[in-house]
Amino acid sequence: MRANSRAVALGNRVRTFRNDVWAGLSSLPKQLPCKYFYDKRGSELFDRICLLDEYYLTRAELAITERHAAEMGEQIGDGVMLVEFGSGSSVKTRYLLDALPKAAAYVPVDISGEHLQQAAGEIAADYPSVEVIPACADFTEPFPLPFATRSISHVAVYFPGSTIGNFLPLRATRLLANVAGLCGRGGGLLIGIDLKKDPAKIHAAYNDASGVTAEFNLNLLRRINRELDGDFRLSNFQHRAIYSAECGRVEIDLVSTEAQIVRVAGRTFQFGAGEAINTEYSHKYTIEEFSALATPAGFVLHHEWTDAERNFAVLHYVVE
Ligand code: AVJ
Repeated sequence: MRANSRAVALGNRVRTFRNDVWAGLSSLPKQLPCKYFYDKRGSELFDRICLLDEYYLTRAELAITERHAAEMGEQIGDGVMLVEFGSGSSVKTRYLLDALPKAAAYVPVDISGEHLQQAAGEIAADYPSVEVIPACADFTEPFPLPFATRSISHVAVYFPGSTIGNFLPLRATRLLANVAGLCGRGGGLLIGIDLKKDPAKIHAAYNDASGVTAEFNLNLLRRINRELDGDFRLSNFQHRAIYSAECGRVEIDLVSTEAQIVRVAGRTFQFGAGEAINTEYSHKYTIEEFSALATPAGFVLHHEWTDAERNFAVLHYVVE
């Protein structure tokens, strides 16, 4: 990108962030989109979350992928253009690519361009037979697939990490319908989902003893302060994460400890004592419940893999 077009892109991104924050803090209840957690510090904190004893998700998905990679590779098939939602910097991606020696192309999709180029470069160096084409895009909205020079037999989307759990069920179906459109007939979806389980175990995963998740949540306010000239006092907000068995989701909030006024990019917002900002939902599903969201999007479940404790599932769907 040329220097001036990069400046324009950055300006647009900051404006979108500001508008999203203004809109979220003006709504009732207040909310902030969880996609803004991941600035540099937020991404580092998330990496630390993945190593926590309480956070079973990452370990479970990694174990499933390592154990069943060969079968996953067979299900996905030869000549595939594998499109990963996320930068593809994880070990899981490599297990999968190791099991896909005849993959034609690999397309990591991420909104953060720098991280993406770096991760794509590393994959390209280690998998010379695969055409690596990074796509800088927001996968929550429809985007065009890049052209590959190799001939592609079909497209499969890899969506690990149970990130789909952040979306409200109707939004998840809409996103999956976009994915089905991207893949077309014969296309596949390999997706990680966090399964319903003992609520105490879920609660612990989002309320870790060392407070890393609280730091991760509060870092969103730190980011707003820095990038949008905000004046949140971090000591006046508390992390709260509650699993609602009724809704099947963890509801993650930042709770104002007192009545206060906060400024963001020149606008003021009032908080009552105890008022919450919802920052994230993390939905938990049974395989049947999740398939009920994927089916209306056009997907048919072809294969499922879980860990021995059934904490997590990796599901393979096909557009028939
Ligand atoms: C990255 C969306 C899978 O919902 O478990 C972790 C994010 N939030 N701890 C999740 C998260 C708090 C995470 N996902």
